[in-house]
Amino acid sequence: MINKNFQKLSDSYLFTEILKKTKDKKDAIRMGIGDVTRPLAPVVVEAMQKAVVEMGSAKSFRGYGLEQGYPFLRQAVCGYYARKGVELKDDEAFIGDGAGSDIGNVLDIFSRDNSVLIPDPVYPAYVDNNLMMGHEIFYMNGNADNGFLPMPDQSFSKAKIIYICSPNNPTGAVYSADQLKLWVDYAIANDAVILFDAAYEIFVQDKDLPTSIFQIEGAKKCAIEFSSLSKTAGFTGTRCSYTVVPHELIRDGTPLNKLWKRRQETKFNGLAYIVQRGAEAFFTDEGIKQSKENIAYYMQNAKHISETLQKLGIWHTGGKNAPYIWLKCLDDMTSWEFFDYLLANTNIVGTPGSGFGANGEGFFRLSSFGSKESVCAAMENLTREVN
Ligand code: MLT
Repeated sequence: MINKNFQKLSDSYLFTEILKKTKDKKDAIRMGIGDVTRPLAPVVVEAMQKAVVEMGSAKSFRGYGLEQGYPFLRQAVCGYYARKGVELKDDEAFIGDGAGSDIGNVLDIFSRDNSVLIPDPVYPAYVDNNLMMGHEIFYMNGNADNGFLPMPDQSFSKAKIIYICSPNNPTGAVYSADQLKLWVDYAIANDAVILFDAAYEIFVQDKDLPTSIFQIEGAKKCAIEFSSLSKTAGFTGTRCSYTVVPHELIRDGTPLNKLWKRRQETKFNGLAYIVQRGAEAFFTDEGIKQSKENIAYYMQNAKHISETLQKLGIWHTGGKNAPYIWLKCLDDMTSWEFFDYLLANTNIVGTPGSGFGANGEGFFRLSSFGSKESVCAAMENLTREVN
């Protein structure tokens, strides 16, 4: 009767577990889940307000929209890619309600007997989604030796679905263009499809690093890209994402764009018009400029965390091209031991590295999405405790 694959999942999802454990700690400094705190950009708010007024008038009211998103927003997404030097057709970009949801939903278009390749450590939703589907999972090890950026290896060739997250959640590591080219060549040679999670692309500060897999030659033949306005423009509560499925991506003689479109027509009713107008405003020059002020704010927090850890002699990485700092737990504690220790002694809630995979054991993730004041307070507490 039930999908027995669910029995392979842990009792609760990583971030739910953290919430459960800390629900009575009302004054805790929350640096666990990567939830944004800066408000929506003024142009976004203005566009949404205008859309609300439109919906309140019989003349401009709109009912069901297109499942794939309104053409104005699909064009705006293509315009964003054009700035990165990537040319897309409007119908290659699909509007969704979250990169996390689409990265799971996309599995509908692949057969159940696929094997998948997932980096470890990584965003836990990839593993959970594939466990639910009953897919065979192979893991590729990320560690300090490879800079948490595993590279292709023929021993994984059975896996035809490959997850890549760059900038990586949780480690903040970013693949270079040369490294991504090796992944693209590998996927083409092995007839595999890369599911590229670019949710943190806007945090990349180093101009030489790619922010889309489609900046890499050949990628349109082997990749689907997922991204979102959640972290980019403060839409974690508002919801809006985009998924790019190029026409050139063909498997078993079928364009995957056609399958994804068909899937969305049946299972998705599209995103609210009001939200799509807000998202459209983000993609304007002014919207990007205003939203980037928030990104700079978070990156300043990340810098402060990194400098504090540096002073305290705590090994860490990330925080330069991503909003997460990935650190080594003190005194060889396990990730959850360190979670309890940090909460009890510094009032900081972080995320245990082991929640992102076996290679995350002994590591810990701090998010820079809080307010400046809370991050400063957290770093003061940590300094007092460690010194
Ligand atoms: C995280 O903390 O890793 C993310 O916020 C989770 C998510 O985006 O769903």
